[in-house]
Amino acid sequence: MGEGVLSPGAGSSGAAPPGGGGAGAAPPAGPADLGPGFPWVQGGLTCRGLSLEGLARRFGTPLYVYDAQGIADRVHRFQEAFQGVDLLLAYSVKANGNLAVLNRIGLAGAGADIVSAGELERALRAGIPASRMVFAGVGKTVREMERALEVGIHAFHVESEEELNVLEGVARRRGERAPVGIRVNPDVESPTPHHYTATGHATSKFGIPVTRALELYRTAPERPHLWFRGIDVHIGSQIVAVEPYLAALDTVLEMTDRIRADGVSLEYLDLGGGFGVGYRGEGGLPLDRLAGAVTERLRERGLRLILEPGRSIVGEAGVLLTRVLYRKESGGKRFVITDAGMTELLRPSHYGGWHRVVPVLHDPAAPEAVVDVVGPVCESGDFLALDRPLAHPGAGDLLAVGTAGAYGFSMASNYNARCRPAEVLVESGRALLIRRREEVEDLLRGEVIPPAPSPESGDHTP
Ligand code: LLP
Repeated sequence: MGEGVLSPGAGSSGAAPPGGGGAGAAPPAGPADLGPGFPWVQGGLTCRGLSLEGLARRFGTPLYVYDAQGIADRVHRFQEAFQGVDLLLAYSVKANGNLAVLNRIGLAGAGADIVSAGELERALRAGIPASRMVFAGVGKTVREMERALEVGIHAFHVESEEELNVLEGVARRRGERAPVGIRVNPDVESPTPHHYTATGHATSKFGIPVTRALELYRTAPERPHLWFRGIDVHIGSQIVAVEPYLAALDTVLEMTDRIRADGVSLEYLDLGGGFGVGYRGEGGLPLDRLAGAVTERLRERGLRLILEPGRSIVGEAGVLLTRVLYRKESGGKRFVITDAGMTELLRPSHYGGWHRVVPVLHDPAAPEAVVDVVGPVCESGDFLALDRPLAHPGAGDLLAVGTAGAYGFSMASNYNARCRPAEVLVESGRALLIRRREEVEDLLRGEVIPPAPSPESGDHTP
């Protein structure tokens, strides 16, 4: 995979048309593709030699399937593209925090971008050294700060002045120096597909404005318990253009020069994550172009680079398998009702996210129909795809939802008291269960029914 874009595009086995499958789009000429790692073999979708239908039979549905090789390849692609600079690749755990996935990403040489004590413990448990972790987020608690200091993370990415003061207090009490990078709000508009995933504009809750951040760096000499180690920026998610990154980079590089001129010796620049992938099989962010522009400017300043990719490491390396339960027609619409919905994959419902939906067994005789693929959850917003031309699947048929490795399971919920699905890692020709399917007992654990109030207590409700 040396193509230099994050999504190598549709493979040779039946490409989806540009923008294929969206509302009003032409139906695919052949069986639609799910990208590298999930090729068609003899009329059936596979992952590294294993049939997806076979995996669904063995592990049940809904089921997440991840391609270990695809994940490792994508880590290596970043390492290759940025080999001209000292790189810490801090994989963004929120995209997919399964322990096995984290473990393999760590083995490939990456660290972690974390946003909570939970993610910290996950990454540690998966074997990622704390020294390769950066901790972002606008609402870190004192306990989270203490734990991160205790294990020795690489740096806290501080998002407000009040947070900086609290962190300083925690470090002082512990007699330590907290490593810090200020997350700068560069005030750039990042072209993300949904405004929920843009973070670099002035009115977002993230980061500290440039002028204020510069003032805070200037306080460094009076703050022996803070170690101003770097500078951080993250402008949003699913960005396929290089320009917004370069705009943000210019801002933080200029700041770095000024901060260093003030005598604060910053070691690293963190450009965040957000590198877009091709949900429709198109190319994602042109990584080599970004790398070219970034590498030169960091090298000449002797700055270490931190990147925090999440989606671009795991997104295209995962699919969600779901079985059709029923079909129905109503109000001129055709519905295909599947056993997965917004509880398994929230992106379509929450962000209007578009994912390929493909029957796992290709039936050339199947009639095409434009359908809504909807889940069993009691919400009208519960869908996987709307107005989608599809070889009309029937009850029992298996569908694969593409590019579901990122923000799929990690955003799954128990709404409607639904059990979260199992996860399988395909590695070296074997399918490994890396999370068993939840059971109702898992859902009820921790809940307590208090004794009913006695009539004498007077506080019973009718
Ligand atoms: N670093 C920071 C500080 C972040 O907030 C994020 C993502 C990342 C890195 C990784 O971004 P990535 O490379 O994965 O785009 N749930 C949404 C995406 C939310 C992203 C939140 N922050 C979605 O499904 O599109």
